[in-house]
Amino acid sequence: MDLKAFYDQHGAEVDAAVARVLSSGWYILGKEVEAFEAAFASELDLGTAAGVGNGTDALMLALRGLGVGPGDRVATVSHTAVATVAAVELIGAVPIFVDIDPIFFTLSPQSLARCVESVDGIKAVVAVHLYGQPADMAGILDVCRPRGIWVVEDCAQAHGARIGATTVGGIGDSASFSFYPTKNLGAFGDGGAVSARNPSVIETVRCLRQYGWRERYISDVPGYNSRLDELQASILNVKLGYLAEGNKRRRAIAARYQTGLSGLNLVLPQEAPGTTHVYHQYVVRHPERDRIAAELRSVGIGTNIHYPVPVHLQPAYRGRLAADPDGLLATEAAAREVLSLPMYPELEDKAVDRVIEAVRSVV
Ligand SMILES: Cc1ncc(COP(=O)(O)O)c(C=O)c1O
Repeated sequence: MDLKAFYDQHGAEVDAAVARVLSSGWYILGKEVEAFEAAFASELDLGTAAGVGNGTDALMLALRGLGVGPGDRVATVSHTAVATVAAVELIGAVPIFVDIDPIFFTLSPQSLARCVESVDGIKAVVAVHLYGQPADMAGILDVCRPRGIWVVEDCAQAHGARIGATTVGGIGDSASFSFYPTKNLGAFGDGGAVSARNPSVIETVRCLRQYGWRERYISDVPGYNSRLDELQASILNVKLGYLAEGNKRRRAIAARYQTGLSGLNLVLPQEAPGTTHVYHQYVVRHPERDRIAAELRSVGIGTNIHYPVPVHLQPAYRGRLAADPDGLLATEAAAREVLSLPMYPELEDKAVDRVIEAVRSVV
């Protein structure tokens, strides 16, 4: 993707926001952060939100805000950014790996049901809305609600995605967002947010994000340092105004790919009924994924693999964490076959058509 494209189009607005912060003399957790928290929560109908340092911290704090902590078991997927699993371990909790749905790439409620039967005392589930596709929240809540298991949404790749009329992040008990520059809503540095409908969850997060302080210099609980800075918040305040338009353009690019790539021996992404996918990534599947990626590279088209090795098979995690007793077959198959094609709002139709033409000739 071209990370500078947004600045090329909207540089004057960004420069004005940055200048306002630089001349204000206040650089961390101030008016820009407060304004962003309110606008973000209101625009996406998330209840209350708190800005934090990055998406990994956001997930860690979304769990801590619900009282999940050391020794607690947290079920989540292995087909995700490693950050999802790292966040669980950062609070001393123990990840349990759940398989994914083979079509939508998100957490499988059937696999989750097997995990809660085979592993005692799962306290929370982290559902990742991967690639911008909402996870099956109804299926996940059906498993979790009767058992009193918390449901946390990892929305790092899905700002503005919806199930029916409800935006993701507003469905579970708490949610985390990343504003890493490549995200659908990205800062020009690191940033993240936690949201929850219950304001007391966010009150806890606000306390934990700054040393456990409720009152300055007095730590009520042992906390962290994970603050959103004013410069990033001021840029996010500008970029939030373009989120809906950016997501709309991503969906238009996906529709163009969908038409242009139909009829090939290539599995195209599907949208779960009733959901609004926001195409953080446009991910196709093919058994010869590596050959296709290499041939596209040779004609100047960059692709990526999200993700080449599932978390449970990576050296840091291999063999030491429990998983669905039936195995993680859909996860392992996806890792062998997925390929992400170019996708960002500023990508022009003629570039999309060039990708389509090249993919058609190599597949
Ligand atoms: C699904 C998912 N969760 C969590 C994160 C972590 O976000 P960050 O890189 O801002 O810590 C990311 C981003 O890489 C992600 O894609």
